[in-house]
Amino acid sequence: MHREELQTFKGWFKQYVQGFYSDDPAVQAGIRLKEEHTRRVCTAIVGIGRSLDLPPEDLHLAEAVALFHDLGRFRQYATYHTFNDRRSENHALLGVRELERAGVLAGLPEEERNLITMSIEYHNLRDLPGKLPERPALFARLIRDADKLDILQVFTGSLERKEAAPNPLLNSGLPDTPGYSPVLIRNLLQGELCNYSDMKNFNDRKLLMLSWIYDINFPWTLAEIRRNGHVEKILDSLPGTEEIRRVGERLHIFMASRSA
Ligand SMILES: [Fe+2]
Repeated sequence: MHREELQTFKGWFKQYVQGFYSDDPAVQAGIRLKEEHTRRVCTAIVGIGRSLDLPPEDLHLAEAVALFHDLGRFRQYATYHTFNDRRSENHALLGVRELERAGVLAGLPEEERNLITMSIEYHNLRDLPGKLPERPALFARLIRDADKLDILQVFTGSLERKEAAPNPLLNSGLPDTPGYSPVLIRNLLQGELCNYSDMKNFNDRKLLMLSWIYDINFPWTLAEIRRNGHVEKILDSLPGTEEIRRVGERLHIFMASRSA
């Protein structure tokens, strides 16, 4: 993808998002949250891409994927006032529909158009489909890493500020009750991703975020996670039980083995 095409997409995106700006402060906060998230995910995906020595055309393509990965979030929030896909609809598919409706990608070669829409569709799946061809797999992995990195950043930031009431935009409206669900601990100790449907409270949400470590694809992303201490910050906010200590140990062993 040429730089000029990426610039055109950025201009379109800006206008599109401004169309959702609202006088209602609650709606506006949600729209701005995702606008800022998109900006940071664009920066992160270029960071990962550079660490892999991708050529400039692929860096532009990757940035376009990041720019559009959460496009569906804006109409989702305006329509349903929630970012919870289970209470509204799949924001990835909604975003692809919005792109198609506006004909934004119409001028691109078919390969690039498909790579962008597939990467959007795959960005929020628990697992990537097996046996993806090399390029779709690469771009899907790039956006999944960049997205997770920023969500971890925002999440640990809110934990550090020890926000009196956890931000409902970030905790899926889960109650901040004591304890956690054993199934998520089991997943973490077995090196598996946790399932959203198993989350019962805010501690479960924290455990699910920790399990993302097992799904990070690139050394650059893992290095950023380590540099920012995301794992330690989340662990510190969980109950100081033996189980949590073992989860921490397991995660640290995994991260060390991946960076070696
Ligand atoms: Fe998303």
